[in-house]
Amino acid sequence: MVQPYEEFLSEILISADQLQARIAELGRQITADYAEKDLLLVCILKGGVMFLTDLMRQIHVPHAIDFMAVTSYGAGSRESTGAVRILMDLETDIVGRDVLLVEDIIDSGYTLSYITRVLRARNPASLHICTLLDKAERRQVDVPLNYVGFTIPDKFVFGYGLDLDDVYRNLPFIGVVKPGMFVSD
Ligand code: IMP
Ligand code: MG
Repeated sequence: MVQPYEEFLSEILISADQLQARIAELGRQITADYAEKDLLLVCILKGGVMFLTDLMRQIHVPHAIDFMAVTSYGAGSRESTGAVRILMDLETDIVGRDVLLVEDIIDSGYTLSYITRVLRARNPASLHICTLLDKAERRQVDVPLNYVGFTIPDKFVFGYGLDLDDVYRNLPFIGVVKPGMFVSD
């Protein structure tokens, strides 16, 4: 049986209220920037789902959504490598669309850099990135970010879509995990 999240939580980094207030601001910006565009929000599963569903309710221009699932393999569950693989591709043809990638967190940048390369090759009208969290000091490859919710320190976080060894995505806040703790331990 999996333990309650409290056993892994050292502190709440971003409260539910702070998340919602910032997401409303991001939504206002995106609404203004995409007024005359053919917006398609592309959510990267699974971590981006909470953010997508809250963000899209704050975007007041007509838009479509689609999903993509990727995995990076070769490293442990808490680090990605340069090797990324598409598990589930988009249903939508993105030629000529204004694509906005919706991500939970950018860490090394490997995942996003791979996805943007793949999607750019499909000739969208535009391709921009919106991430809720940016662990800027961990960056290995440069990825230009257009919308950032919060820049956070180099700590492993969970909740609000982000998993800790695949659980606790449902928490309405972003929490920091106690150092050295894994659910399967
Ligand atoms: P990147 O390729 O190193 O930028 O890794 C990005 C992916 O790693 C994210 O989409 C998350 O799935 C995962 N990740 C990175 N840092 C964290 C974290 O602190 N908590 C949970 N997942 C994370
Ligand atoms: Mg993950």
